[in-house]
Amino acid sequence: MIEYRNLRVAILGGGSVGAQVASLLIEHGDELAARAGAGLEVVGVAVRDVNAKRDTDIPAHLLTTDAESLILGADIVVELIGGIEPARTWILQALQSGADVITANKAVLANHGPELFDAAEQVGAQLYYEAAVGGAIPIIRPLRDSLAGDRVMRILGIVNGTTNYILDRMDVHGDSFGEALMDATRLGYAEADPTADVEGFDAAQKAAILASLAFHTTVPLDAVYREGMTSVTHEQVVAARKAGYTVKLLAICERLVDAETGVEGVSARVHPALVPLDHPLAAVHGANNAVFVEAEAAGSLMFYGAGAGGVQTASAVLGDIVSAARRHVVGGPGVAESTHANLPVLPMSSVNTRYQITLTVLDEPGVLATIATLFSDRGVSVEGLSQSVRDGGDAERPTATLVVITHQAAESSLAATVAALAASPVVSSVVSVLRVEGL
Ligand code: NDP
Ligand code: HSE
Repeated sequence: MIEYRNLRVAILGGGSVGAQVASLLIEHGDELAARAGAGLEVVGVAVRDVNAKRDTDIPAHLLTTDAESLILGADIVVELIGGIEPARTWILQALQSGADVITANKAVLANHGPELFDAAEQVGAQLYYEAAVGGAIPIIRPLRDSLAGDRVMRILGIVNGTTNYILDRMDVHGDSFGEALMDATRLGYAEADPTADVEGFDAAQKAAILASLAFHTTVPLDAVYREGMTSVTHEQVVAARKAGYTVKLLAICERLVDAETGVEGVSARVHPALVPLDHPLAAVHGANNAVFVEAEAAGSLMFYGAGAGGVQTASAVLGDIVSAARRHVVGGPGVAESTHANLPVLPMSSVNTRYQITLTVLDEPGVLATIATLFSDRGVSVEGLSQSVRDGGDAERPTATLVVITHQAAESSLAATVAALAASPVVSSVVSVLRVEGL
């Protein structure tokens, strides 16, 4: 029996996600109202062009180009237009008017999160964003609520479906980068400008959101180290599999201590990495996402599923709408974002990780000893080394491929080692340098 008044829900954006949210909210209205404890009335869907063709029908009388009027008087505002402006301004207007806001917009959160959370706190409203990372995968609530009593130590995430799709296709089907990217775009995984995917910008936004939540610390987007995956070659992917790894674009958030200064802090970074084939993240195929969380008490947890797609992402948005409605029914202020730990965000130079370095070297006596010295002189310890049979050069100066795996080493030491290797007369070329994660 529902006794609470109907709640007015304004949806900003009627694209891939917005249209699905509107139609599911209308179609399953009674069931969601029963779960929420209040009726949920869609008062309108703001778009740029009311006549634009849409994959999912939205009743014509709900479409409007006047977002600001829709926001006024709404109890719940759902922002699904994406980008920074006017999303930021409209979220602020909605919060300032006392409405709860739901957004799937990682860009606005990663760039303006503190401003938006402050605005919510000022008026006791709540900003929900389950869909902003990992699409349909529940990861925001687990980090914010379920793990609130634990200490998250590290997160390894495949948080961009497009790049996982491309790397997977290169690995499993032998496709080229270009072919796979075209397919990812056709299937609707890629951003309007896929540079955001392949250069790691999208994953970096998600890493900033995850790190801020996990470590109760504001981690600004510009503190997230970022490398895209456009430099990963087909040869590297093939060689990785032969060596027992797969290449993934990872978002890594971790607590760490700077070895030189002793400062305890956190870091967030995005880059391609080799993941051992027996790690759960190696089994994440296609456009799926997964977030692997290591917590002090809980141990390892993995959250897996569809990281993109209109209807899949709508599931997470609808969950937030039900939560917001329940909060209205129960009353009281929203829960503020927890940034109490306020840990320093350490630079990439503080990070220690393992590396796989592939070299073409002269196949002559003494070469291995020379190379081992180049590593040890710079404080980089070698964990394993394998050399192919002669596979290049000429009769006078034959060459072989050498693959070196290091123990954990500082970024700065590794960079110095690679520079020394490149300059060494016994090294014909440094074929690739990849970080290794998940060992
Ligand atoms: P779309 O580009 O498909 O849709 C955007 C919608 O917003 C369109 O309906 C568009 O109107 C409307 N819009 C854009 N600008 C304005 C404006 N200035 N005034 C009024 N309406 C506007 O985006 P998605 O649905 O794919 O994404 C929405 C959000 O969800 C983004 O933040 C995205 O990052 C996030 N997200 C998306 C996922 C996905 O798989 N698609 C997955 C996870 C998150 P019109 O239709 O008239 O052009
Ligand atoms: N372009 C994004 C991806 C969409 O490929 O993961 C979901 O945020």
